[in-house]
Amino acid sequence: MAAFTAYRIFENDGKSAGRFVELTLDDLDPGEVVIQAHYSSVNYKDALAATGAGKVIRRFPCVGGIDVSGVVASSSDARFKAGDKVLVTGYDMGVAHDGGYAEYVRVPADWVVPLPQKLTLFDAMALGTAGFTAALSIHRLEQNELRPENGKVLVTGATGGVSSVVIVMLAQLGYHVVALTGKDSEHDYLKSLGASEILSRKDVQMGSRPLEKAQWAGALDAVGGETLAWLTRTMQQNGVMASFGNAGGIELHTTVLPFILRGVRLIGIDSAATAMTLRRQIWQRLASDLYPRLLAQVAHTVPFAGLQQVFPQLLQGKQRGRSVVEIKAPG
Ligand SMILES: NC(=O)c1ccc[n+]([C@@H]2O[C@H](COP(=O)([O-])OP(=O)(O)OC[C@H]3O[C@@H](n4cnc5c(N)ncnc54)[C@H](OP(=O)(O)O)[C@@H]3O)[C@@H](O)[C@H]2O)c1
Repeated sequence: MAAFTAYRIFENDGKSAGRFVELTLDDLDPGEVVIQAHYSSVNYKDALAATGAGKVIRRFPCVGGIDVSGVVASSSDARFKAGDKVLVTGYDMGVAHDGGYAEYVRVPADWVVPLPQKLTLFDAMALGTAGFTAALSIHRLEQNELRPENGKVLVTGATGGVSSVVIVMLAQLGYHVVALTGKDSEHDYLKSLGASEILSRKDVQMGSRPLEKAQWAGALDAVGGETLAWLTRTMQQNGVMASFGNAGGIELHTTVLPFILRGVRLIGIDSAATAMTLRRQIWQRLASDLYPRLLAQVAHTVPFAGLQQVFPQLLQGKQRGRSVVEIKAPG
């Protein structure tokens, strides 16, 4: 196979940075399945990896991109054959195994998910790790008895990739969604996604008592830090919260009182390591009841060559919705 283009991240003098390079299949990490990539996406983790703003890459050099969708070019594993439409998200992709920012991607067969019939390869990456994380978080909250009739559900980092999708999904499931955002210019956008109420980050009085006024039946948190601590203090009796992100910090200072006096449950979400059985179940939900009807509104396309312009926007919290990277021109 001829050389192809990849966006690979290198480390020099302790600093990491990505650039476009020409590779051949022999340069890629081993795996049974070679995928001709059609789309990838840009997640917060991708921006941390590509710029070195976060120490997420565990092996250099590494082709970036934690997500990919495309068509199998060849497979030495009987579960897949040339021409199959597939997707891969998470595992070690883009952090310790060459990832999705390349025209060809080679991965272990155990990581590959057949594209659900009702999704296109574009849909799969408009969703990507973000959509998968959104669906997994909602699934886990529902397993913990969250229902629309229980009360309001708060979504933090609301305009972000994961949270935008969460809002659309919750609204179509009939939840009363309250969106917490730092972007005052985006209130109309959040309402158009299905948020019933919007809270401005600068206006929220977080208080400091171990228990504040109980407000939320459910919460999905992209932010961590003080925001997550405030959430623990303001959950209703038997409230259930999912922590999936740390855009605002990794610390969590709270007390046990929300847990022992209000029965609050805090559920951790790790999309990358989700086992294949649950992973396929979540992708089937993404293709059915959790398919975000407003996906086109949330997702926009970025040409492969324009990839690097997205990273700083994401890191500065200026990004809205999902960036789908077009690796192979359609047609
Ligand atoms: N656990 C998992 O499996 C998993 C999977 C995917 C993502 N994640 C994590 O989830 C988080 C969101 O990912 P994403 O891809 O959706 O990123 P994203 O598109 O950059 O969204 C993050 C959002 O958080 C808000 N935010 C940013 N900086 C903040 C700050 N300093 N304080 C408070 N809010 C801030 C912004 O929303 P507003 O301006 O609207 O407030 C921003 O749009 C990241 O931490 C990511 O690493 C985890």
